[in-house]
Amino acid sequence: MCGIVGYTGKNQAVNFLVEGLKTLEYRGYDSAGVEVLSTDGELHGVKCAGRVAVLEERCKTANPVGTTGIAHTRWATHGAPTDKNAHPHRDCSGRIAIVHNGIIENYRELRSYLSRNGHEFASDTDSEVIAHLIEDAWAGPAKGDLLTAVRNACRRLEGSWAIAAVCADAPGQIVVARNGSPLVVASAADGAYCASDVTPLASVTSHVIQLENGQFGRLSQAGEVEVFDSEGLPVAEPSAIDIDWDASAATLGGYADFMAKEIAEQPEAIERLLSGRLGEKGILLDELKMTEEELAAVDRIYLIACGTSYHVGLIARTLIQTWAKVPVICDYASEFNYEQDVLVTDHTLCVIITQSGETADTLAAARKMHGMGAKVFAVTNVLGSTAARESDGVLYVQAGPEVCVASTKAYTAQMVACALFALRLAQSHGVMSAEEVATHYQDLKAIPDAIREVISRSWQDKQAAAVFRSATSALFLGRGVNATTAYEGALKLKEVSYLHAEAYPAGEMKHGPIALLEPGFPVVAIVPADRVHDKTVSNIQEVNARGAVCVAVATDGDESVASLCEHVLWIPPVADELLVPIVAVVHLQILARYVARTRGCDVDKPRNLAKSVTVE
Ligand code: F6R
Repeated sequence: MCGIVGYTGKNQAVNFLVEGLKTLEYRGYDSAGVEVLSTDGELHGVKCAGRVAVLEERCKTANPVGTTGIAHTRWATHGAPTDKNAHPHRDCSGRIAIVHNGIIENYRELRSYLSRNGHEFASDTDSEVIAHLIEDAWAGPAKGDLLTAVRNACRRLEGSWAIAAVCADAPGQIVVARNGSPLVVASAADGAYCASDVTPLASVTSHVIQLENGQFGRLSQAGEVEVFDSEGLPVAEPSAIDIDWDASAATLGGYADFMAKEIAEQPEAIERLLSGRLGEKGILLDELKMTEEELAAVDRIYLIACGTSYHVGLIARTLIQTWAKVPVICDYASEFNYEQDVLVTDHTLCVIITQSGETADTLAAARKMHGMGAKVFAVTNVLGSTAARESDGVLYVQAGPEVCVASTKAYTAQMVACALFALRLAQSHGVMSAEEVATHYQDLKAIPDAIREVISRSWQDKQAAAVFRSATSALFLGRGVNATTAYEGALKLKEVSYLHAEAYPAGEMKHGPIALLEPGFPVVAIVPADRVHDKTVSNIQEVNARGAVCVAVATDGDESVASLCEHVLWIPPVADELLVPIVAVVHLQILARYVARTRGCDVDKPRNLAKSVTVE
């Protein structure tokens, strides 16, 4: 986690640094800081606990003047979120400063080694050792060359890092390094830039270079960007991508918060993803990069993901098993990585689902599967992310930048992407006729309008949110695919409102969670018109019998549910009951947002969370 940016060029650095940090705040927001190389040849640092807005105010007063600088927004791993632990960190001389995203696993050994050699530390972080290692190298073997000093320092590190370093004695220069944590660099008319991802750069350039693991970059004030390999040799053709969305996509555009904006963007995101996917030969998914024979031979699929993306995996498992008749194992990446019973045949396919494409656990799982000989296919939202680059094939869900930490549009788009994949697989396995494939595709095409309809009924969620005002906990229930909708609804509520919520398959309530129920206790039941509808209605009756308050998600016109529930969040009919989760969850996203707002929470930046979890 953590976000880093850097700029060297013609303009005052602090302006871009602070604006850039704002767009990266979803990566962490415990503390923030900038370090600007002043025209007087000194480093001028401003840093503080709290959000970028606090830093911005401090910068207005401190006014660090200079055209080269680096900056950081932090998600604390080592050391509390305090002023002293905020990045950038300096060496003893105060002439070198670094920002770091990642974890230095051997920092204890390095810190005691450096302390024995006279270095004094100002913070509790793992990152600070980097500045001191650069200091040693600068004075020793690097002989005043910042690139060599950073390379030397990195040789001593174990763990993951994206680093940007400046030195008061190397004016106009920023040196960057990458190993395991993302980092992009770019050359523009007014200078050279670096950032954790493309978001801060969308307003300055449409062309960025992604550093590979083990690479270094040198940015100069004239706007030049040079990339070097681990041996210090220039890389002739570094990996470049074009940014295909405009900067306004990452601004509020009149919405109260990004969560509201991203919920509203779901229909268009899904339409974009589905557009042109049905050809004469059926579903078009060339991104798989697999031949028809290879696809037809797939005999087992591992779906690996974390958090919300894991919930996508649960839905995808049902779609693949039902439509393509291929057995699926769905697992949390953090669990999968330590499992010993993974069975890989010559025809096993691993699908990783990760909206950021940078989740450390998911990447580790993909590497494990690659190591065992499986092909890896990534479903992700972020162009050129590590998951995309390390996989054999990648399907971009094209939801556009998701700024709110709690995932909404990436969740529904990922489900649709997995549905396309399931249809493609069914086709190559010969278990679905062309007509059936076309019918399922048309059912998917109807989803955006159904979501539009749900969004137009947000007032229902607003009214239902009152039920949670003084609650301390809530229970979410659903059956079949909508047990997953319950899991996701509970996760959304927890994340943005800090209200404890549990989710259970509705039939399991009687085996334990029913003990929670008492008068006024809120229960959310997902009970659409499907084959398990009546069973779930019985569970609602059990809820009512204990005096608990039921809020249901139900299909238009369902009087049996309306008569039992305090509030009903209505969804329009969905042709295929397996696709209901993509529509029903939208109510739960909106409900979570309203509950959070009535409890005074910042929905876009929930405490303790980060959008991109790049540590295990
Ligand atoms: C919840 C949420 C997280 C992520 C999880 C995995 O709203 O967004 O649970 O789903 O951290 O992230 P990705 O999908 O980027 O791998």
